[in-house]
Amino acid sequence: MNLKGKVAIVTGGNSGIGMAIVLELARQGANIVIDYVVHPEATEELASQVRALGDRCIGVKADVSQVAELQNLVAAAVKEFGRVDIMVNNAGVETRTSVLDTTEVQYEKVMNINLKSAFFGTQLAAQQMIQQGGGGRIINISSVHEDWPMPGNTAYCLSKGGMRMLTRTAGLELAPHNILVVGVGPGAVATPINAGTMNDPELLKKLNSAIPLGRMAKPEEIASLVAFLAGDGASYMTATTIFADGGIMQSSPGL
Ligand code: BGC
Repeated sequence: MNLKGKVAIVTGGNSGIGMAIVLELARQGANIVIDYVVHPEATEELASQVRALGDRCIGVKADVSQVAELQNLVAAAVKEFGRVDIMVNNAGVETRTSVLDTTEVQYEKVMNINLKSAFFGTQLAAQQMIQQGGGGRIINISSVHEDWPMPGNTAYCLSKGGMRMLTRTAGLELAPHNILVVGVGPGAVATPINAGTMNDPELLKKLNSAIPLGRMAKPEEIASLVAFLAGDGASYMTATTIFADGGIMQSSPGL
């Protein structure tokens, strides 16, 4: 129970990697705020699973691409639990479009949900952590594509490249407050964002054969890293990204 009594916010927390993070942080003893936009029933079901583990949990509906809604999210956490110790900026989408055909609407959606939310999520969580004292952890769920180009997914790569520098720069700015900012860079994970690939046997075969470990990650294999980064064992890690990608970054272009 590495995180006993800590308070964690997980954005985009009711599906995919976010859901696995919620459950793993709860297993480690944290009280959880699950941010979501759609599927209140899935959020409530997940919150019951957290409560069954003996932790407190609330779901908060907030579109984190809007700063006012992020403010409400952090305020709801403080109202319920009195503090924020761990902020996981996890919400993310992709459009699978190239630089030639990405529309302004698609560009803004990807940049706002992936990068703007992480920027202001970092800002608002850090302001709260400074006010309450005692440091904190900010964990940005990025991607191998913060470093590694993926043709046909340009805006997504741009947003993740921005997260890379957010993690590094905010990590330096917040170090004097003992607020550690770390990025997590998953490779291909079996979640709804990759449904298109998982439902296309040819593409899935191509992807699996490009991954040195031969398979996609389970969301739990990313959540275990996040729980480690939120805990005492990671007390000297900041301003950097840790990859959990089955070796794919060293092999071929993104698929
Ligand atoms: C993307 C997936 C892609 C994977 C590996 C992830 O960040 O969301 O679409 O398959 O990286 O390239």
